[in-house]
Amino acid sequence: MEFHVKGGNPEKQRTACVVVAVYEPRKFSAAAVQLDQASDGFLTNVVRRGDMEGKLGQTLMLFNVPNCQCDRVLLVGCGREREFSLPRLRQVVTTATKALDSGGSTDAVYCLADLAIKGHETASRVTQVVMAAEGALYHFDALKSTKQSQRRPLRKIVLNIANRDELPACEQAAREGQAIANGVALARELGNLPGNVCTPTYLANAALKMGKRLKRLKVQILEQAEMEKLGMGALLSVARGSREPPKLIVLQYRGGAKDDKPVALVGKGLTFDAGGISLKPAPAMDEMKYDMCGAAGVLGAIHACAELALPINVVGVIPSSENLPDGAANKPGDIVTSMSGQTIEVLNTDAEGRLILCDALTYTERFEPTAVIDLATLTGACVIALGNHAHGLMSNHAPLAHELLTAGRAIHDRAWELPLWDEYQDQLDSNFADMANIGGREGGAITAACFLSRYTKKFHWAHLDIAGTAWVSGKEKGGTGRPVPLLVQFLLQRAGTKH
Ligand code: BES
Ligand code: MN
Ligand code: ZN
Repeated sequence: MEFHVKGGNPEKQRTACVVVAVYEPRKFSAAAVQLDQASDGFLTNVVRRGDMEGKLGQTLMLFNVPNCQCDRVLLVGCGREREFSLPRLRQVVTTATKALDSGGSTDAVYCLADLAIKGHETASRVTQVVMAAEGALYHFDALKSTKQSQRRPLRKIVLNIANRDELPACEQAAREGQAIANGVALARELGNLPGNVCTPTYLANAALKMGKRLKRLKVQILEQAEMEKLGMGALLSVARGSREPPKLIVLQYRGGAKDDKPVALVGKGLTFDAGGISLKPAPAMDEMKYDMCGAAGVLGAIHACAELALPINVVGVIPSSENLPDGAANKPGDIVTSMSGQTIEVLNTDAEGRLILCDALTYTERFEPTAVIDLATLTGACVIALGNHAHGLMSNHAPLAHELLTAGRAIHDRAWELPLWDEYQDQLDSNFADMANIGGREGGAITAACFLSRYTKKFHWAHLDIAGTAWVSGKEKGGTGRPVPLLVQFLLQRAGTKH
């Protein structure tokens, strides 16, 4: 999709469709008032007849609106003005965009970024409109034998802004929205690919391709032999149960000065998690193809950084493997030695994410990062604690946690902090090794983070448990691309281009 930002009168727009908002009950937005006045009360007459109450999600397409240069006017209901919010703006944009795409409009002017929302400036709303419009038209058909395609798809959206002084900021905001949306789409696509296609090798190749296409991005793949040399006994123990070779994918984006210390993003890349010898039950096991969504999030976020040419350095580290039962697989009770030298008793082979992440975290030390953020579909317990709306956030550095929470609120991809207190650490005690890889049912998301905290003492670190947020189940099953928006917002804040 092509996006432009413009200031201008809605009635003067030569376009297939002008989109304006109506709040409940029948209250026009400023742009709708303008159209109404230009058309001598045409819109007033329409709502008076009862066709548009302004309820959230309602739409009404109008043709032949007098004195307007456009072919159509789409009225979209936005609910009560006082209750209007970022998620509602996204919902309205999604509805409008789907209607236009299937309704034959190839271009449109959206008068929606001007709708006031407490705590969010016009520019931040522009970012949301772009993200939502791109997200609305995403569908996964890579593996359908016939692709669904519109006869006259929507190709160009102009965001209309009343105040011309805001144009430069809004143009930048649209570019950011586009870059985030592209990163989100990449993450969704990789997540949706099945385990027999998206293997560790596939992920490595996807990263290599990105490295070839994007400026200032260098990608390197560490093979099993190199991981053996480094002593990554925990990561390799998981990979032993699979016929697919493991990969450690390392991305280096250098947008900053040569000696600027980077931010590191570490993503769990389990391309299929059957649980290993501690085999998972059958229902919904297919969803464990999404166990690489941390990896997909790292690739999506770095893609956005490179597209925006952010003036910072970012490193991505992705340990990737399958977790399957096999004669060579980890067995409950096995003890493995991690790259850090600490030994781990594998009491449950299904707690494999932390095993591959701990070695990746130790490896990350060599970049002397200013902050390390890992993202992982790590625990079912996090889904129980927070549901599907908030990422679980645990950190060893309060200011870093605060930065991430703030970024999440700003872009509406929110995280919620869980405590990482020392008291929880005892649950990982083992009679036979330095630690066990599980800490019991109680506080399962926290004890998983406690495990990781033993490998992150040398830097400021935050852990995002995205088990509940990286994909949705049910009829609309599919990757969400989260937490790419949060991460890019955080990196934008760090790059100082946003405050
Ligand atoms: N990938 C899973 C976590 C998961 C489960 C994410 C369900 C989303 C939905 C992870 O590897 C796992 O199996 N974790 C176990 C840990 C347990 C054995 C301590 C879990 O959460 O049950
Ligand atoms: Mn598992
Ligand atoms: Zn897993």
